[in-house]
Amino acid sequence: MTASVRQHFSLRRQQLAAKLDDGILILATAQQQTRNADTHYNYRWDSNFHYLTGFKEPNAILLMKIQDGRATTTLFCQPKDLEREIWDGIRLGPEAAVSELGVDEAFSINEFSSRLPQYLVNQSTIYSLWGEKTPTEELIFNAVNHVKSMIRQGVNAPYRFMDVRSVIHEMRLIKDEVEIAIMRQAARIASTAHNRAMRSAMNAQYEYEVEAELLYEFKKYGSDAPAYPSIVAAGENATILHYVENNATVKSGQLMLIDAGCEWQGYASDITRTFPVNGKFTDTQKLLYDIVLRAQLAAIESIKPGIQFNDYHLIAVRSLVEGLVDLKLCQGSIDGIIESGDYRRFYMHRTGHWLGRDVHDVGEYMINGQSRYLEPGMVMTVEPGLYIRPDSSVPEQFHGIGIRIEDDILVTHNGVDVLTKDAYKTVVDIESWMNQ
Ligand code: GLY
Ligand code: MN
Ligand code: MN
Repeated sequence: MTASVRQHFSLRRQQLAAKLDDGILILATAQQQTRNADTHYNYRWDSNFHYLTGFKEPNAILLMKIQDGRATTTLFCQPKDLEREIWDGIRLGPEAAVSELGVDEAFSINEFSSRLPQYLVNQSTIYSLWGEKTPTEELIFNAVNHVKSMIRQGVNAPYRFMDVRSVIHEMRLIKDEVEIAIMRQAARIASTAHNRAMRSAMNAQYEYEVEAELLYEFKKYGSDAPAYPSIVAAGENATILHYVENNATVKSGQLMLIDAGCEWQGYASDITRTFPVNGKFTDTQKLLYDIVLRAQLAAIESIKPGIQFNDYHLIAVRSLVEGLVDLKLCQGSIDGIIESGDYRRFYMHRTGHWLGRDVHDVGEYMINGQSRYLEPGMVMTVEPGLYIRPDSSVPEQFHGIGIRIEDDILVTHNGVDVLTKDAYKTVVDIESWMNQ
């Protein structure tokens, strides 16, 4: 970790401390998960923990003593152990953690239980992410009980258990320059991957062949992992919102919907593109595609600081409904259809979500019962779609078509920056890219 990165994380801890009253904050990273027998899933650290430490090893706990708005930081991490390191890889170890991560002190994770009571003596508040039933939570309450048992020696035990989730999550919602640079790269890699996948679909027999092209591109540029299970859906599979089997055959004449993003340096991208497998939209496909595209562009166009999060959803819905009425897939007035929700037969999800360390990132959507106002530094998706399942009330030409178009949007001071603009999106651009 460079000095400036170290400083970045240290500053973040101090910014958090400045928002809290005196107390002890305790945050454990994620646990390793068994896949089967003695094999683990690839390890993924906890997003909040990494946000405050930059530390990627498992079996680690962050403890911050907060006093007068300043934090003194202790890290508990895996001790150096030559035997284990030969098998599992190099550990940073407590000694190096102090200089490498810029924490004030560090100890072996094996000492967490025995050392914790001394931090809790005469503190009234413990901040943590309560209610997750983790082993760390149990250790914390054991330590609290231990301190309580010392009451006759004149010490006080913590009695306020504050959830620090919302404070950290509100910080995470507004991305700083370093985060934005990382997210740009995550978006760029995923955009290139989508472009590659589009072309590969022309020669693919099965959906998973196209998925393989995405994964190749993610990995080639150093992505940690897909940010979520990729959806590669040919034909009618595109009308299943969370289709992840990706094992059906691909046929010329079908549309393919790909919803895939990579995680790069801990941040997600989340892109959906829909394109004709053979490189040429049919007239019907084009009709529907352009309705979704118009809705998406109108929604993006509307985004700037000061509008409410829900506003761009409403704009996308109105635009989609206009298209559905033009095609006679919905009947009645635009307002009436929006009011009754009749459009939900074809558009049943919302138009976006926060994006960051988690693909559905943290941060409130409502403040005091009202959709919150957008601010520079927020990143979210804009992802309208239309999904037309075979149904006797719908002309057959539309049956089994699923279309979604999803981009990642940074709110800037005067509008937006489309982070995923490198992924081809218009009918003309997609067709000319695929047929080059
Ligand atoms: N890929 C998850 C989403 O689009 O929300
Ligand atoms: Mn999304
Ligand atoms: Mn998506």
